[in-house]
Amino acid sequence: MHIRRCATLLIEPRETIGFDLGALLGGETGVRTTLGWVALAAHLDEEIPLDAAEVALLGAVSPNAWVAFDDLAKKHPRETLDALLAKGLIVAQDSEDEHLLERARRDEALRATHWRDLAAVMHRHTRWKDVDTEEAERRFSEASEQTFLERLGPSPPPVHERVSSGQRIALQRPHASALEELSDRRVTCRNYDPSRAVSQDDFSALMYRTFGARVVSDYAPGVQLLKKGVPSAGGLHATEAYVLVQNVEGVAPGLYHYHPVAHALEPLRALQPDAATALAKRFVAAQAYYAQAHVMIALVSRFPRNFWKYRNHAKAYRAVVLDAGHLSQMLYLAATELNLGAFITAAVNEAEIEQAFGLEPMEEGPLAVCGFGVRASEKVTVEFDPAGKVWPAPRS
Ligand SMILES: Cc1cc2nc3c(=O)[nH]c(=O)nc-3n(C[C@H](O)[C@H](O)[C@H](O)COP(=O)(O)O)c2cc1C
Repeated sequence: MHIRRCATLLIEPRETIGFDLGALLGGETGVRTTLGWVALAAHLDEEIPLDAAEVALLGAVSPNAWVAFDDLAKKHPRETLDALLAKGLIVAQDSEDEHLLERARRDEALRATHWRDLAAVMHRHTRWKDVDTEEAERRFSEASEQTFLERLGPSPPPVHERVSSGQRIALQRPHASALEELSDRRVTCRNYDPSRAVSQDDFSALMYRTFGARVVSDYAPGVQLLKKGVPSAGGLHATEAYVLVQNVEGVAPGLYHYHPVAHALEPLRALQPDAATALAKRFVAAQAYYAQAHVMIALVSRFPRNFWKYRNHAKAYRAVVLDAGHLSQMLYLAATELNLGAFITAAVNEAEIEQAFGLEPMEEGPLAVCGFGVRASEKVTVEFDPAGKVWPAPRS
């Protein structure tokens, strides 16, 4: 069997704080801290505890050249090599064990995608599974006498002023314009009306204006760029829309992929209405107000398309995250123009979105979830509308 170290690996010295009830009863504080090593590998979901001998051996095995296991075992303790193989941090090329081969395939696929190491580890290990933000808030308020704001204290000021007010060069306010009016009315919507469907016309218009390709340009043999209403790094538009439809006239509830060139939906899985709402809630880490949105869209970056050009590039991950921001702002404005409400959230359970749409996390990764729908006539959940553009200001 031939082995090598996995491609992308960071090792963190971590202090873990635990609680020892026995020590507390014995009159001590009960707080126990332990220091240890943790491996974060970009082809594995789990964080892997390591001992010092394993850390040292990882530094002695090439991530590139395949070496016979028996040759390495002459120079290093066999049991440490076995442990690292079992942990997936050393991969095997020609093992009989299907589990080991699967790990090696995942490592191989990652190499072929041209991730920058730091970004790869960050992406893999900041994904959520089964997170319930509402439950976390409930637990916080039960466990603490303080409100959240009391615990945080005052925020840094809204502006870092660099000169005194007398030294400023005042600029003119712009004239009224359609864009100005639209921007003024843009308010993140947390109140949707499930009793009314989004019309098919509005749905198609929003999808086209935000995600649709206006032109496909043959840039070079085998290289096509898309022209959209939003900018994208390299014109590649690696970020695609994976859609969960709950309530659109003439479109069955279910999961779809939006085809930006054909301006069409690709049906992936039909869902019963209740199942669609439940899945929507899981996508957005239990934020119930967003789960009511008529349409939810996972902004999914196809990393190999961006990284095809920006290989192992220090800025590539940042670029795909920026792409997602452009798309969501366009969705907000397009929805506002049609008197619909829109939202974006980064508090998402990526692992569940990947599973629902059948995505391999290091190839096609959800970066955020946005959505839109018909605004409710009553405000139940708070929205940030200090100028009263959507909701009438309360009478004083
Ligand atoms: C990157 C990003 C992440 C956000 N995540 C959440 C979220 O998890 N939950 C939520 O209710 N709103 C979320 N929002 C919406 C913001 O809370 C909202 O933009 C902010 O309150 C200001 O309100 P406005 O958009 O109406 O101006 C997010 C916005 C952005 C840009």
